[in-house]
Amino acid sequence: MGRHIVGSVSEVPPGGRKIVEVEGRSIGVFNVHGTFFALRNRCPHEGAPLCLGLVKGLTMPSMPGEYVWARDGEILRCPWHGWEFDILTGRTICDPERIRVKTYPVTVDGAEESAEGTDGDHESSIPPSVETFPVTTEEGVIVLHL
Ligand code: FES
Repeated sequence: MGRHIVGSVSEVPPGGRKIVEVEGRSIGVFNVHGTFFALRNRCPHEGAPLCLGLVKGLTMPSMPGEYVWARDGEILRCPWHGWEFDILTGRTICDPERIRVKTYPVTVDGAEESAEGTDGDHESSIPPSVETFPVTTEEGVIVLHL
C-alpha cells in the first residue's frame, strides 16, 4: 500500500474536498465534520466525475407531513444522473449492498506536534548551558493510502 501526501489539513476544511491524481487514478478527498474520506472520482453508473457532485444530506423516513433532514454533509450526489453515495462508506443510498464506489483509507499525520526543551521531563537530559526553543507544527498533512 502506497502512502501519498495530498495536501495540508487547512486546504480541506470541514465540508470541503480536494480532487487529486494518484497512481493514474482521480480521487476525491472529503472532510466530513473533521474526518477525512477518499472516494474514486468515477461514478459506477456511467463514469461521471462523481467527486464534483453536490455534497448534501438525506430526508429520513418519517410520518406523513413530516420532513426530517439528517446526515448533512455526508451524502454525495452524482452530477450526471443524481445517484447518491454515502461518503463515509462509498455505498449508494438506493442499493447499498450492490452498488458502491471505491473508497481509500485516509490518515492525518503530524498534527499539533510540539517539543519544548526547557520544560517538562526532558529538562534533566539537556545540559544547562544549551539554550533550547519551542518547536510547533501548526498543522498536519492528509495522507492517502492506496
Ligand atoms: S453517471 Fe453517476 S448517476 Fe449516472
